[in-house]
Amino acid sequence: MFRPRLVTILVASGAKGGVGKSTIAASLAALFDVKVAVLDLGIDGNTTVAAYHKACVDDTRGILDYLLLGLDFEIVESKVSRNVGIVPAGRVSGIRASILSIPNKSLVKTRYEKALLRLRREGYEIVLIDTPSNVELLSTTYVTILYYSDIICLVTEPTLSAIETLHKWWSNFSKVLSKGSQILNIVVNKYIEKLHNNVNSLRKYVQDGILSKIPFDAAVLVLSTNAELPIMYTEPAKFNKALTSLFKIIEEQTMKYIGVQQLRL
Ligand SMILES: Nc1ncnc2c1ncn2[C@@H]1O[C@H](COP(=O)(O)OP(=O)(O)OP(=O)(O)O)[C@@H](O)[C@H]1O
Ligand SMILES: [Mg+2]
Repeated sequence: MFRPRLVTILVASGAKGGVGKSTIAASLAALFDVKVAVLDLGIDGNTTVAAYHKACVDDTRGILDYLLLGLDFEIVESKVSRNVGIVPAGRVSGIRASILSIPNKSLVKTRYEKALLRLRREGYEIVLIDTPSNVELLSTTYVTILYYSDIICLVTEPTLSAIETLHKWWSNFSKVLSKGSQILNIVVNKYIEKLHNNVNSLRKYVQDGILSKIPFDAAVLVLSTNAELPIMYTEPAKFNKALTSLFKIIEEQTMKYIGVQQLRL
């Protein structure tokens, strides 16, 4: 099947919640010039990508409705960035998704391929996926999404417990990653240089990518309580500077997929 340029970027973490996946995913999406579709699967989080982008997704049919039930999904425009469209998890999410996603892996796979093709037809060049920390909620769907990701940003906090859950994630899912054509970046968020000198061990997971450290910045916390997207403001300066550098690297990484991935689907 023909797939014109379309790069899929997955933002994931270990089982530790609240490491900053949704904040990072929402900010990266806003920084691209090209059209970005965000699959907003951060279904167990407080602040989701949709909330940051002021997209009202209540009662909207989403990607899980399509993958699990075959119902068409909707794309809701961001009110913050003109280039961003949000595809919510949908009405079938959370616990119901884990029950429903037990059947037929290959059907989920075929539907996911079709969903990507539809997004490409509608002009999206990047598909950015935010995942929940509790991946049980997505069950087999998670493995499919992981398999089709060109670039993976594995986000962690620098705490020992968060790093531990990242190691566990690796032992559970590295088999899915073994096809070797993916880029894997490690993003250490909420980093405080004086406190955390234990993160270099994570370099071993990097594949063709980088280990990025994003500083702890209290202004991010303040903005997120009102679901304001940090990257749209001059403060938090520390967070925005690091996030913009990470974005530039990811943008370069996406260039690798021009023309290369056309036959992948
Ligand atoms: N670099 C940072 N400095 C300070 N606070 C941050 C930073 N990054 C994220 N946060 C804050 O951490 C909290 C959790 O962030 P976020 O919701 O993005 O995490 P998550 O990984 O998506 O969580 P969940 O697993 O619940 O979906 C938010 O209040 C956010 O503002
Ligand atoms: Mg989240």
